[in-house]
Formats: sequence, C-alpha cells, structure tokens
Amino acid sequence: MTMNYYCLIFAILLSFPCAYGDLKPKFYEAKCPRVEDAIANAVATAEKNNPGICAGVIRLHFHDCFVNGCDGSVLLDNPNSEKTSDDNIGLRGFNVIEAAKIAAEKSCGKPSPPLVSCADVLAYAARDCVNILGGFTYEVVAGRFDSKVSRKEDTTGNLPAANFTFEELKDNFAKKKLSAVDLVALTGAHSIGVAHCLSFKERFTNVKTSEIDPTYADSLREKCKNGDFVIVSQDHVTSNRLDVQWYKNENQNKVLFLSDWVLRTDSASQSLMNNFAGLNRNLPPQFIKWEPAFIDAMQKMGKIPGGPGEIRKVCNAVN
Ligand code: HEM
Repeated sequence: MTMNYYCLIFAILLSFPCAYGDLKPKFYEAKCPRVEDAIANAVATAEKNNPGICAGVIRLHFHDCFVNGCDGSVLLDNPNSEKTSDDNIGLRGFNVIEAAKIAAEKSCGKPSPPLVSCADVLAYAARDCVNILGGFTYEVVAGRFDSKVSRKEDTTGNLPAANFTFEELKDNFAKKKLSAVDLVALTGAHSIGVAHCLSFKERFTNVKTSEIDPTYADSLREKCKNGDFVIVSQDHVTSNRLDVQWYKNENQNKVLFLSDWVLRTDSASQSLMNNFAGLNRNLPPQFIKWEPAFIDAMQKMGKIPGGPGEIRKVCNAVN
C-alpha cells in the first residue's frame, strides 16, 4: 500500500513538465523531445547559407545574458530596444534565431501556446554554433523566460566596452558572477567573426596607449582607410575557426581591441593566455586547456538569471 502510494506520487511528479524559471538539462524532453535537434538543424542550415553568421549568434547570446540575464531581451524590436544601443554595434544573427524558433515550435507538434522560449533557443543556438565553428559541444540547461521589455539604456554599464581597462573588465564580469578566468576564456571567442574599424581604430591611431605589432597596425590602417564601418576579421590567421589561435595572436600583439590587449596587462591573465595558446607549461593542470575553460564559462554565462516573463510567439516582439 505505502509502496503504491509512493509510486503514484513519483508518477505524478514525472508527468509534470519542468517549471520555467528553473533551469534544467533536457528541459523540453517531455513535450518537445526533438527540440535540440530541430534547432541544431536550423542553425547548421543558416551557417551553410551565410558562412560566419554563427559568430554573430555566439555574440548575441553573450549580449543577451549580460543585460538583465539570459532573457531574450536583445532580440526584441522597438524604437528604444537594446539593439539600438551603440554598445550593440554590428550585432547580427537575429534571423537565425527566428528560423530556429520556428523549427523549435514545429518540433513540439501543434503548439498553441508557444512552448520554447526565445532565450532558450538562443542559448541552444550559441552552443550549436560553438560546435560548428569549434568542433566541440556541451550541455545547455533550459527553462528561461522571455522578457517583456528591452531598453537601450540597460546596455550601459552591463556590456563591457572595447576601451575598458583590465580592472574594468574584471569588475564587469564579477558583477555577473564570472571570474577573471572566465573573462580570459570567453574572450577567446574573438577568434571568430568580424569587427568594425570604429571599434578598434584607437589601436592604430593612438599607438601609445597599447602595444600593437607595427606590421599588423599598418594592415589595419590600410583596411580601415575606407571608413569606420569597414569590417575586419578578428583573427587574422583562422578567422572562421573557434580555436586557440586568438591567444597566439595576443602573444604577438596582433589583436584588435584595447579590451583584448589589456588582458596582457595582468600577469595571471597573461600567463593563462600563454597557457591556452600552448606557450606556457608552468600552470596547474586545471588551467592547461582552453576548451573546458570556455565551456565552463559559457555554461555559467548561460545561467545568469533573467526575471519572470513569458514564452514569446516570435522572438522580436512581445506577445
Ligand atoms: C570581454 C569583453 C568584450 C568586449 C569589450 C567585446 C567587444 C566586442 C566588439 C567591440 C566587437 C566588434 C563589434 C563590431 O565592431 O562589429 C566584438 C565582436 C565579437 N565578440 Fe566580443 N567582446 C567581449 C567579450 C566577448 C565574449 C564574452 C564573447 C562570447 C563568448 C564575444 C564574442 C564576440 C564575437 C563572436 C564577435 C564577432 C561577432 C560577429 O562576427 O558578428 N565577445 N566584441
């Protein structure tokens, strides 16, 4: 009798879907068991049709999570939305997320109301992009709500700027409960994608503020002579591979932003970067590999809590 009672309680608990707001692995398994595959397929198609767009998706996830938590606020359109902030210059990949959201909802069968939050779609899509561009993967917990607001002014103070000092970057990450190791590991994402000359021209116009390889500076000057909105690959060696090349570039003073270069101004951070680049064998074993450090930091970043909200029907508008 008691046994049957416990079995019944257990069965009832199992049949309950997970509650949104409570992040879990395989969150959608009960209602949409194929959702992660559906998103992965949509993302793979998008990257095939528009090579490099995956870099945009990874940055989108970062810019989503750092502004009021991972809540899809960056995806919303309105005249004063986060998208309109200068801090979000060059943000791209929105269409990838809309396509992945459609595929996600379709995979659930015939949904009404919608089941898969845009914030979750973005977290999964970023993971898939890491897999496509880096060749490694990790588990993503889900159950995020979508926010009902998106305000330009919220990016200020939340998103780090390309002219931040090391201390400013460290403080900015600490506010999100991310460590200096996370900062150094995540910035390795600058081994993919592009940047506008506007975001780094200080580096070659005002060479006294930071060190930059003179030949590299000349090549940037040459590329940027046609204006602030020319785009340049962030990693001049393997621009479409998410790998440790960026740390090798750091070691040679061949990175774009001041915020990249300043990671060298702290000895622990510099040592860690040399280690990630495979140039330093003296650190403890847990610091040796970049991939696990990057995964750990991406997973932590993906858990920055958003507030309560809704599950949007489409990702660029509230319901
Ligand atoms: C540490 C502080 C960071 C600063 C100051 C910073 C700044 C920037 C800037 C200024 C751009 C170029 C924008 C443009 O001109 O178009 C950029 C691009 C990019 N960032 Fe960061 N970033 C930081 C950290 C991160 C992190 C944590 C990630 C991801 C985990 C990331 C991923 C990317 C990617 C993938 C691009 C290229 C995007 C594309 O090709 O569309 N960044 N970042």
